[in-house]
Amino acid sequence: MGMQEKLEKLMQLRDQARLGGGEDKTAIQHKKGKLTARERIDLLLDDGSFEEFDMFVSRSHPESASGGEYLPEGVVTGYGTIDGRLVYVFSQDFTIVGGSLSEMYAQKICKVMDKAMKMGAPVIGINDSGGARIQEGVKSLAGYAEIFERNILASGVIPQISAIFGPCAGGAVYSPALTDYTIMSKNTSYMFVTGPKVVKTVTGETVTEEQLGGAFVHGTKSGVAHFVADDEKEGISLIRKLLSFLPQNNLEDPPLAQNDDPIDRVDDKLNTIIPDTANKPYDIKDVIQSIVDNGEFLEVHENYAPNIVVGFSRFNGMPVGIVANQPSYLAGVLDINASRKAARFVRFCDAFNVPIVTLVDVPGFLPGTAQEYGGIILNGAKLLFAYGEATVPKVTIVLRKAYGGAYDVMSSKHLRGDINYAWPTAEIAVMGPRGAIDILHNREIQTITDASARAEFCAKKEQEYINKFTTPYVAAKFGYIDDVIEPRNTRFRIIRALQSLATKKDTNPAKKHSNIPM
Ligand code: HXC
Repeated sequence: MGMQEKLEKLMQLRDQARLGGGEDKTAIQHKKGKLTARERIDLLLDDGSFEEFDMFVSRSHPESASGGEYLPEGVVTGYGTIDGRLVYVFSQDFTIVGGSLSEMYAQKICKVMDKAMKMGAPVIGINDSGGARIQEGVKSLAGYAEIFERNILASGVIPQISAIFGPCAGGAVYSPALTDYTIMSKNTSYMFVTGPKVVKTVTGETVTEEQLGGAFVHGTKSGVAHFVADDEKEGISLIRKLLSFLPQNNLEDPPLAQNDDPIDRVDDKLNTIIPDTANKPYDIKDVIQSIVDNGEFLEVHENYAPNIVVGFSRFNGMPVGIVANQPSYLAGVLDINASRKAARFVRFCDAFNVPIVTLVDVPGFLPGTAQEYGGIILNGAKLLFAYGEATVPKVTIVLRKAYGGAYDVMSSKHLRGDINYAWPTAEIAVMGPRGAIDILHNREIQTITDASARAEFCAKKEQEYINKFTTPYVAAKFGYIDDVIEPRNTRFRIIRALQSLATKKDTNPAKKHSNIPM
């Protein structure tokens, strides 16, 4: 074969690889509102930055026992850049045997994961697959487990992001579940351990794929999806945005961004945002938007456990993780889901050197049998553990309520909070006035038979309690609060605090690993 022919052969093989499962299958994919594996990579990476690996890995083919014929495998892998920073990527190709996973397919994925670990760069996996390739039998199961092991070892070392843009079923769901962030596209993706048919047989329930494991379900009920995107394009731009807040690996700091928002910008609105009546809500996201650079906030788990808000922002260009109780949903109470959600986020930030800013307005933990039976003790302990273990800079602002155990949990001084401020509206106490009066004056209350006299007595005692206990000054007296600040200056005070903490060094005792409550 002459050189010309050799080049032609190369071009022909490349063309064949790029065709994936062929034009018909691609047309079906597009008709479903889905992009192809390669189109997704093109959208994800900086223009022209993709370098592909293993294009010529060929899948086994029963009709070509000689193994001579080339048939591309059902996953596209390689590396490229996002905003000029190196990332590794694998993108499952549903047009090839339903994107199902074979031995060689798994090896392609493992290769990019190993390289990502060596180079200290994030891995992005785009999932669109019918699961284990049935014909490959146990080799396919082995392939999944090889990927899982790598997900586990990479956890806390490099950021791992999963996009689900099609089916992801059976044990295959555990790879995304082991990664840091999962993004699902509306209407075109689903995730479940067992599909509707098995559910019907085992439990008798009739459900659709969407009802069982669509983006809405995982974005609101299970918390499996951290982000729900209207379509794949939005999902991919979310991945790019998310990475802009993250370091390449656990040994680096998150990237500083250019900032044109004045650091001493005051917002008078904040001085009056806390309503005069204690039980009136306000939207904590208004506070977040007011204090961060240019009001930009990338919310994680927007519709899951909305009583706590978590996400990424910047202060003077420095990426931070924000954790904030949300008074406008369930009064911002801590329940099982909110505790789990925030704990996972705090641990992520700590693993990747992202400082944590905590905004506190929490009435306590949610009472009731549902919560106790569900394990609020263990789940609340997760958040406590996460904050207590975190060694990144921790800046805390108590806006209003910080009652009971929830005061301790929310990045208090006692959990190695570095800088703890309070607004003058802060109420830091063992419990709210109503509950306290019922306990402290129960006997007296019982003796007052006249209803209006009783109400008057309670109101008087409550006011005394409020004046004495529900202020920031008791905590400030003991140094638990470093300063009581004017709300409108919050942005400037946080930026100053973060700047002072930039060189913070703190460690935990040497151990194999901690034993976080599960
Ligand atoms: C081999 C598969 C396949 C699989 C799909 N295909 N899934 N081939 N192994 N797991 C093939 C189909 O035969 C078909 O081939 C092509 O891919 C497209 O599939 P369709 O069924 O035509 O597509 P669609 O109607 O969109 O349905 C998609 C689907 C369905 C819902 C994903 O294919 C399906 O139910 N597949 C099986 C899912 C499953 O049970 N997987 C195992 C889960 S257990 P042709 O040649 O017709 O184009 C698992 C264990 C993991 O994964 C273990 C980890 C520990």
